[in-house]
Amino acid sequence: MEKQLYTITENRLVAADTYRLVLSGKGKVDGEFVHLEIPGFYLRRPLSVCDSEEGRFVLLYKTVGEGTRVLATLPEGSRLSVLTGLGKGFDASACSRSALLVGGGLGAAPLYLLAKELKQQGKKVTAVLGFNKADEIVLAQEFEGLCDAFALATLDGSVGVKGFVTDALRTLAPTYDYFYTCGPMVMMKAVCQALEGPGEASLEERMGCGAGFCYGCSVQTAGGPRRVCKDGPVFKKEEILW
Ligand SMILES: Cc1cc2nc3c(=O)[nH]c(=O)nc-3n(C[C@H](O)[C@H](O)[C@H](O)COP(=O)(O)OP(=O)(O)OC[C@H]3O[C@@H](n4cnc5c(N)ncnc54)[C@H](O)[C@@H]3O)c2cc1C
Ligand code: FES
Repeated sequence: MEKQLYTITENRLVAADTYRLVLSGKGKVDGEFVHLEIPGFYLRRPLSVCDSEEGRFVLLYKTVGEGTRVLATLPEGSRLSVLTGLGKGFDASACSRSALLVGGGLGAAPLYLLAKELKQQGKKVTAVLGFNKADEIVLAQEFEGLCDAFALATLDGSVGVKGFVTDALRTLAPTYDYFYTCGPMVMMKAVCQALEGPGEASLEERMGCGAGFCYGCSVQTAGGPRRVCKDGPVFKKEEILW
């Protein structure tokens, strides 16, 4: 874990209530998520790393409460304290040849970084993303450009398959040897029940320290209690007690 000050180089609305935040600083950020200190808030807020390269990384966030609403007001040039190197992320090596990625809403963000890693390893990647409606869609062009096969589902049918990601999965009938999913719990549960074979899912819990000390993010798993921030957020399908 590392704490560093980063400079906001972009913080703009890219979809309904959804912002793209680009932070610049030293080095390349690793870890599944970062913990941001938002001015005026004691507790940091966790956000998944969507993309990362030397000297900058990208986050996508939805304004759901006070913290993210304040974050959205911060102009370019503002400095933010960020804890990096957090979380046990997706295991790209668990897939041998062909991966299926299933994301709901901003669950697409960490899957994008994973898709890039899988492609760099020469693997075939199929991605299915689901959103409520067209104006909430993010990263569709990026996934489409990167992946071997790609499908979208919207609940209102405004774009892609009408319905849930599980409806799009039925239509697409993808072949894969390992799957990865991130999004709302109810969606990930349906995905893990619908998909055969091994896979993993990224859980979300409210966090205190974000670094394994406070046990505030503990969840029960098949192997006993686990901290989402330190032992996860990614867990194998069979470990998760829905
Ligand atoms: C590992 C991890 C990765 C995440 N990645 C992203 C991301 O890439 N983009 C994104 O937009 N959000 C992400 N989240 C959720 C994000 O942390 C919360 O939306 C944010 O902390 C809300 O802060 P707030 O002050 O605006 O809301 P609050 O005022 O604290 O809460 C507003 C609402 O959001 C819910 N909420 C708050 N924190 C969480 C949380 N940690 N998990 C689930 N619900 C929460 C509350 O229950 C409440 O309903 C992630 C959470 C975790 C644990
Ligand atoms: S948030 Fe403190 S242990 Fe996970």
